[in-house]
Amino acid sequence: MNIINARLRGKPGLYRIEVQGQRIAAIVAQGDGAAPGAPGDLDAQQNLVVPPFVEPHIHLDATLTAGEPNWNMSGTLFEGIERWAERKQLTTHEDIKARATKTIGMLVDHGIQHVRTHVDVTDPSLTALKAMVEVREQVRDWVDVQIVAFPQEGIESFANGRALMTEAVAMGADVVGGIPHFENTRDQGVSSIKFLMDLAERTGCLVDVHCDETDDPQSRFLEVLAEETRVRGMGARVTASHTVAMGSYDNAYCYKLFRLLKMSGINFVSCPTESIHLQGRYDGYPKRRGLTRVAEIDRAGMNVCFGQDSIVDPWYPLGNGNILRILEAGLHICHMLGYEDLQRCLDLITDNSARTLNLGERYGIEVGRPANLLLLSAPDDYEMVRSQGHALVSVRNGQVLMRRTPAHVERLG
Ligand code: FE2
Repeated sequence: MNIINARLRGKPGLYRIEVQGQRIAAIVAQGDGAAPGAPGDLDAQQNLVVPPFVEPHIHLDATLTAGEPNWNMSGTLFEGIERWAERKQLTTHEDIKARATKTIGMLVDHGIQHVRTHVDVTDPSLTALKAMVEVREQVRDWVDVQIVAFPQEGIESFANGRALMTEAVAMGADVVGGIPHFENTRDQGVSSIKFLMDLAERTGCLVDVHCDETDDPQSRFLEVLAEETRVRGMGARVTASHTVAMGSYDNAYCYKLFRLLKMSGINFVSCPTESIHLQGRYDGYPKRRGLTRVAEIDRAGMNVCFGQDSIVDPWYPLGNGNILRILEAGLHICHMLGYEDLQRCLDLITDNSARTLNLGERYGIEVGRPANLLLLSAPDDYEMVRSQGHALVSVRNGQVLMRRTPAHVERLG
């Protein structure tokens, strides 16, 4: 299979991408003129061809449960955790597998081929984890799934929290999670981070911590995670998700913090639609946005990407799998609609996310890498967001995985 008339980000002209078997065999410059296709070619029609979109932060065990049995009436993160604790009593192995598989289908339909899912392990039976380990295998032809052992109700403040985390890793979790701001005390938050970093170091797992997901400017676990990362030399193997308290830190503290963050080399994930919905809930006016400092992190040369977090669950009632919707919202909410940001905004759902997931040479449009790529509906990043474009074709391991027909509008007057 060849993909012809493709634009590649950051490169002039058009290209032909030659696929042999499951790999990219050649990338050949065509000049500026569109070439006629041969039977079997995929014609990008002078639009962008990019590596697949990445979902770096979602909770597949909780998706498609909003309102079961009760809706989150306050819209707060903490009521979301309460509602989920109720729903968790009703979960079964098959229920989780069915919802997770359906949600993965929604992600695939929007061009996503790499997913990092947090899975709640504060459950003595580890029902969700067992189900997700099976789903990870069953969807391998569609997506690569990384499973985070996520202690939704705490490590230190939940009965047998440490043992459940250890067991989850032994059962096949790829990534160690945490939720230090939810632990009962500051000390428990700190010790939970030391515990989870030890566990990751011992087992070779990556780390992705829900960190400071609160408007409380005194929630300062990010500095603990960053320092543990720096001292252990774990760098880009570690991710801080949310860090929304950073939006409430004063600048003097944040300036000092950025020095440590840069030295640590950690990645950041922001979930802008989720955070704008859940945070700022205790404010009058002026009301905080409740997001981390995405633009500032990016401009400081650190790695940051966007995730969806939820699709129709106790924390967020909307969502359809379309990460481009998250990108557009995030660019607005984070003050990133400036010219330069728009020129490279797809980084936030492609290359930056792939770095966060440590995908390395399994990702990217380069000769010898897996033939995983998307044909988009626009010629550049700016136009892709402005036109609310779509991934039109998703190719995985050299085969077409998804094909979308754009809406056809007829003007009759
Ligand atoms: Fe999350």
